Amino acid sequence: MICENLSVLPNGHLAFAGLDTVDLAAQYGTPLYLMDEARIRERCRTYLTAVAEAFDGNGKVLYASKAASFKRIYEIMQEEGMCTDVVSSGEIFTAVKAGFDLGNAYFHSNNKTDSDIAYAMDVGVGYFVVDNIEELTAIDAEAQRRGIKQKVLLRLTPGIDPHTYAAINTGMVDSKFGSAIETRQAEEITRDALGLAGIELVGFHCHVGSQVFDSDVYIRASDVMLGFIAEMKNRLGFEASILDLGGGYGVRYTEADPEIDIRANILSVGAHMKETAGRLGINLPTVCFEPGRSIVADAGMTLYTVGTVKRIPGYKNYVSVDGSMADNIRHALYGAPYTVVAADNMNAATDMECTVAGRCCESGDLIAEGVALPSSTKRGNILACLTTGAYHYSMASNYNRLCKPPVVMINNGDTYVAVKRETPETLTSLDV
Ligand code: LLP
Repeated sequence: MICENLSVLPNGHLAFAGLDTVDLAAQYGTPLYLMDEARIRERCRTYLTAVAEAFDGNGKVLYASKAASFKRIYEIMQEEGMCTDVVSSGEIFTAVKAGFDLGNAYFHSNNKTDSDIAYAMDVGVGYFVVDNIEELTAIDAEAQRRGIKQKVLLRLTPGIDPHTYAAINTGMVDSKFGSAIETRQAEEITRDALGLAGIELVGFHCHVGSQVFDSDVYIRASDVMLGFIAEMKNRLGFEASILDLGGGYGVRYTEADPEIDIRANILSVGAHMKETAGRLGINLPTVCFEPGRSIVADAGMTLYTVGTVKRIPGYKNYVSVDGSMADNIRHALYGAPYTVVAADNMNAATDMECTVAGRCCESGDLIAEGVALPSSTKRGNILACLTTGAYHYSMASNYNRLCKPPVVMINNGDTYVAVKRETPETLTSLDV
């Protein structure tokens, strides 16, 4: 199976992190997000040890919390010694509520509002990752008002194509994110940042994209960024002390996706960067990686109950479930592929090809296409959609007034609720 935390029990049920998923569906109801705490921690440790080794202790790992943001996840990150990337006052507030040390938070986004900036300074967010000159000016003004110097990294676009979905490709020159090196806007913003009394420029950031499998991408990005650092040292006398290479390592949604050896990748990026920095005559800065998806994606799955099974002779079969694009927008948005299995019937022949559809009033509301399920699949069966730990709960909506599923964590053979299920009451709680 696509991740080691999956197995089949003697009763033919799918087990996740050692527990019977059919029992969990009965206990908590469906749709249900499950997360495997041990797997999340294991992924953090893989990154932390690889980065420490690759950069001789001079590296950091930031969890990109947009992948899955709720209190418990920040607690886990804090316990594991991870830093975090936050992109809104909402994510910052959640981290604060979880007791996360905000000195280790990096505040991203391409358009921080004045109130975001003020709030982030109120709670002591350690680093701002600044996208453009307007934002830099606003941060400087607020910092000066407070009589502080805000630590800042500048987000640059290195002009690298990571060959991923267009919607999550962010490192190209015409991207909405960052200041481009090619157009010299990167140099301009660096010059500006160095002249502002409220800003302490500490380094640079880039993020080339997401669901990236080509490890060469990080090598190329680091070449461009180290080259820029050397240029800024020579031209402006500024030597960056932090270089954040962003997130992006891909995960396995289906058997067709390769498995990335994160450790080997980071070690080779580290070796390459040391050599490059030496050649350019600069000190290797503290190097940050910012993974989101690869920390939580395969630590998650979604359980659904089958409703209608519709066969359209000569055309296709639809298996509709009690979830939808409201809990999984990724297929509708990106055409992202998924693996869906019959959680209560894992040993049966998968002799029916079908489309797994959601329950929203929208033809594009599909969970997965080209899925092979047993032809006996009928109302009441339990399906598992795998690899849903990243960008599912965090991208969920209430479209069609559907209640968001709970997030149930599995840890050491036990379960606990990390996020409760929404109810019609909570749904209407803000209606006046
Ligand atoms: N750092 C920055 C600045 C980012 O913009 C992102 C993701 C990450 C780190 C984490 O990237 P990851 O390791 O998770 O690939 N909703 C889309 C993904 C959008 C990613 C946005 N930025 C999806 O569901 O595929």
